[in-house]
Amino acid sequence: MTEQDQAITGVEVFFDSNDIIVSKTNTQGHLTYANDVFLDIAGYTEAEVLGKPHNIIRHPHMPRCIFKALWETIKSGNEIFAYVMNRTKSGDHYWVLAHVTPSFNTSGDIVGFHSNRRVPNRDSLEHTIIPLYQKLLQIETSKGRKEGLDASCAHLNSLFTEQDISINEFFLSLA
Ligand SMILES: Cc1cc2nc3c(=O)[nH]c(=O)nc-3n(C[C@H](O)[C@H](O)[C@H](O)COP(=O)(O)O)c2cc1C
Repeated sequence: MTEQDQAITGVEVFFDSNDIIVSKTNTQGHLTYANDVFLDIAGYTEAEVLGKPHNIIRHPHMPRCIFKALWETIKSGNEIFAYVMNRTKSGDHYWVLAHVTPSFNTSGDIVGFHSNRRVPNRDSLEHTIIPLYQKLLQIETSKGRKEGLDASCAHLNSLFTEQDISINEFFLSLA
C-alpha cells in the first residue's frame, strides 16, 4: 500500500444528476475558480483550492495515461471528454464525466482551461470504464514509470484504433 493509498477510504460519494461540477484553471493547471458543487462534493473551501494545482483532487487509482491524453488535447487547443474518478479531501471518491476545454483570448491564445462535469452513466462506468481503468493502472504499475505510461497509452490507443474512433467518440458513446 502506498502512502497515498492510506488516505483512500474506498467509499464512493455522489452528486445530483441535475448538478454540474465546474472548475477553471490558469494555463499551468492551477485552480482559478471552483463552483459550490465542486467545493461541496470535494470537501474543500474555496480558499483551500484557489491557486492550488488541479491534482489536489487526483485519485491515486486513476491511470496516468488519461491525464496525459487530457493535457495533450487541451494544450493543442481542443476539447476532451473523459470519465474521471476524483478524490475528496477525506479520501472518498466520486466519478464524473468531464468535459475539459481551453479558453482563448481574442488573439486566439490559450489563457486557461475550463471543466464541466456531470454524473456519468452507471452501466458504462461499471461495465466498461472501471475494468478498463483497472487494466490501465495495472499496466502502469507493473513497469517502470515511463515504460508503464507508454504501455498504458498504447493499450488505450489500440482500443480506439480497433474501433476506428477518437477518444471523445469513445467517451461520448458511453455517456
Ligand atoms: C480544467 C482542468 C480540469 C481538470 N480536472 C481534473 C479533475 O477533475 N481531476 C483530476 O484528477 N485532474 C484534473 N485535471 C488534471 C490535473 O491537472 C492533473 O493533470 C491530474 O490530476 C493528474 O495529476 P498529475 O499530473 O500530478 O499526475 C484537470 C486539469 C484541467 C486543466
